[in-house]
Amino acid sequence: MKQKTVQEIASLYIEYFRKNGHSIVPSSSLVPTGDPTLLFTTAGMVQFKPLFTGAVELPYTRAASVQKCVRTTDLEVVGKTERHCTFFEMLGNFSFGDYFKKEAIAYALEFSLQHLEIPKEKIWVTIYLDDDEAKQIWMDLGIPEERIVRLGKKDNFWGPAGDSGACGPCSELYLDRGPEKGGPNCGNNPNCKPGCDCDRYLEYWNLVFNQFNQTVTGELLPLKQTGIDTGSGLERVAMLLQGVDSVYDTDELKKIIQKIESLSGQTYNESTKVSFRVITDHSRSVFFAIGDRIIPDRTGRGYVIRRLIRRASLFARKLGIHKPFLFQLVEPLVAIYSERYPELSSRKEEIKNTILKEEELFLNTLEIGLEELERLLSELKSQNQTVVSGKESFRLYSTFGFPKEMTRELVLERGFSFHEEEFEEELEKDRDLSRASWKGKKVSYLTGLSNGRELKTEFLGYEASKAEANILYIFKEGKQVPSVRQGEEAVIVLDRTPFYAEGGGQLGDTGYIKGGDFQFQVQDTQKENDAFLHMGLVLKGEIKTGDHVSLEIDGVRRKNLANHHSGTHLLNGALRRILGDHVSQKGSVVSPDYLRFDFSHGKALSQEEITRIEEDVNRAIAQEILVKTEVLPIEEAKTSGAVSMFDEKYGNLVRVVSMGDASKEFCGGTHVSNTADISYFAIIKEGSPGAGNRRIEAICGSNVVAYFQSIFQVLAEKVQEHNLKVKESFGDLKVFGIHERVPSPEEVQISFEKDSTQAVGILRSKKQTVEKILEEKSNQYFKEKKKKEAMSFQLNPELVESLLKSVIKIGSLVVVKQVFDGVDSKSLKDLGDSLKSRSEDVICLFGSKEGESSTLVYMCNQKNVAKGIHCGNLLKSALELLGGKGGGRPDMAQGGGKNPDSIEKALDVTIQTLKQEWEGK
Ligand code: SER
Repeated sequence: MKQKTVQEIASLYIEYFRKNGHSIVPSSSLVPTGDPTLLFTTAGMVQFKPLFTGAVELPYTRAASVQKCVRTTDLEVVGKTERHCTFFEMLGNFSFGDYFKKEAIAYALEFSLQHLEIPKEKIWVTIYLDDDEAKQIWMDLGIPEERIVRLGKKDNFWGPAGDSGACGPCSELYLDRGPEKGGPNCGNNPNCKPGCDCDRYLEYWNLVFNQFNQTVTGELLPLKQTGIDTGSGLERVAMLLQGVDSVYDTDELKKIIQKIESLSGQTYNESTKVSFRVITDHSRSVFFAIGDRIIPDRTGRGYVIRRLIRRASLFARKLGIHKPFLFQLVEPLVAIYSERYPELSSRKEEIKNTILKEEELFLNTLEIGLEELERLLSELKSQNQTVVSGKESFRLYSTFGFPKEMTRELVLERGFSFHEEEFEEELEKDRDLSRASWKGKKVSYLTGLSNGRELKTEFLGYEASKAEANILYIFKEGKQVPSVRQGEEAVIVLDRTPFYAEGGGQLGDTGYIKGGDFQFQVQDTQKENDAFLHMGLVLKGEIKTGDHVSLEIDGVRRKNLANHHSGTHLLNGALRRILGDHVSQKGSVVSPDYLRFDFSHGKALSQEEITRIEEDVNRAIAQEILVKTEVLPIEEAKTSGAVSMFDEKYGNLVRVVSMGDASKEFCGGTHVSNTADISYFAIIKEGSPGAGNRRIEAICGSNVVAYFQSIFQVLAEKVQEHNLKVKESFGDLKVFGIHERVPSPEEVQISFEKDSTQAVGILRSKKQTVEKILEEKSNQYFKEKKKKEAMSFQLNPELVESLLKSVIKIGSLVVVKQVFDGVDSKSLKDLGDSLKSRSEDVICLFGSKEGESSTLVYMCNQKNVAKGIHCGNLLKSALELLGGKGGGRPDMAQGGGKNPDSIEKALDVTIQTLKQEWEGK
């Protein structure tokens, strides 16, 4: 086999399928479209899911792509094996109702033989248990029967990706790498075939024959059009063609390994390879994910990225690297991948900075966290215990930032286990309490001090995020103490500090105070008079009054606070420009995640006003205005036109923050240095906090992009669900289907890159357009469906026959019980009459649901009335379950209610009543 580089393989693949009539589709974002149940794009087919199910109009019927993918199911073994990766690229060709098995198999074989130049005799294939058709196709193409292996569902049935969608049996291509790769046990064993655990046969291409659409309840419905979804791991194919045993030894990944060698001064060898591989793999996932604007966070996708960065830091430490490191791989990654992903070079700096900040954050506590874990494990060992409690593992998470999965990996390695449920319980408790613990402890610390009134901390945090200072006082449980030690909570007062104390709506800073052998985690900063109170926990060592210490705030959090504070000022300015000068601030919260702004204004804001406000703020951001601060005598500040809070008390000197013409305000808070740092601004809620005021909640920074991505993800899913219903009922999307395109994650990203001032407005109006169409089309659909059902219902004599075949006999009564969808009461009565004319003993119990409402119709012949049956009474008690009213005559009754999901139960109430009285009679 001829050696080929990763790039050569990718190009050959694309060219081959282009020549065979496939549209070449670029890789989609790692954020999947239209499927909120999927965290990441895990396969080439993900971006085509709606094309397979027929939920959208087909732009083409055959396609091919090289797709970036992230799969984290085996994250904890990545690095420890030859082939596991969290990031990989997948080559794939797809057919949507176009070609099927025969052509898919022929393409895969031809490409393998002619372009990958794999010798035919080395190719083995697997097929799904009973897929004789696939077997015959392979044989017709010259693969001998003895090299075709049948495998079960676990191996040869693929999908769906996420909790629903296209899936089907598959057939895989394997390369026989020779008996020597099988090891001593398998080498020449004739039973060693594809499917065996050894390394002799390696799968390199999966051909999925999509025949089913799996619903969220796990039901397999036949797809209206069959499809082909093939997937071939690019790194794996490269490994096979380059004759190496590990994907990490292929040309591109090797370059990353070499870069790590030169940056760390370590050699890639048997003892270091796990760390090298972890860093290599995780750097790619993190790089591509942040490139797609997935930001490290506490939940969801962001949490996975945080986990990957932290796991990489842990393994970098094993190579003796104790400083931020991963960020240095961004440069080489751009160089390696820019041919296939040119868009990444423009985001290089942003990706680098995001990784750097996240690494810095974790490295503050990694070392101490590991010591803490060590102490914990030896304590457990001395007590002959092997299970780390949820409380302890949660402490490792909340105090030292160890993701639970990292703790699991670390303790498992040492022969311990950890209590996952308890961990989740602790996490839940913490969510409830959130920051309440320090707020609740807000007592006066200074009253006991003789100089309490004069005590003043110099604030350095406008310019600095780091500083050196001296400890003036330490308080424990509200009382002054000379020192505190590891594990104790304390409040520290310093002579100077970069930590901002909560004020003017802006939350207090968090971060670290460090000295010779100690470290203190600042969890909140508050102010009493002019003294700053650093509240938190001693992570390590002993801290004494008088100690000289170094201080560092959490830079990522502060940056987000600054974004939201400066965003608040721009919002205040925009409100005054757009709504009028009467707008005055009534309250504000500036947190790292969002801002909340209350202001005086008599009525709710219109959509148009909201859009204009957002545009105004985003324009100021796009104008890259320098943020200027000056301290002025109050009178001068007032005459300069700076906005102040009417009922706020100010000193003689005030700080004024101005952003060109966009804003000028009295403010003691911390801000960005240029409005461009805010990136984007979007209003996420508008309402009233009462007292004739309005309240706006807004977000700033790149989270705005993620916010719109997730809105459209949910909307795309709704559109697809609607379209599928239309297809199901009418067989054609043309009638009531929605052809409006919902922006994909990359389209959202591009909107912001193209026009950051208008993007929010454009996207929001797109959202409203789609929502409106969805509503209209849904209403239309329900109406038409009802009509159609009513028609087909009347015209359908088989229905009467089939209902008479499935009656319930209770004594001498013949009961027909049936629930329909969207059938009106008139049609139900017609059906009842037909049944009555066919059987003297029949009692009809009909229900019908439509949207949120339900209808019941009960009918019987006079023969049953004479026996004592009273349809009106029976219906009355059944309707109680439906929250409805109704009644009627003994032979005919009808009524309606809500709770359509309870119709079956309501009819069962009647069945029970009849059984009680008539069974056996
Ligand atoms: N979806 C299949 C897989 O991921 C084939 O592309 O293996």
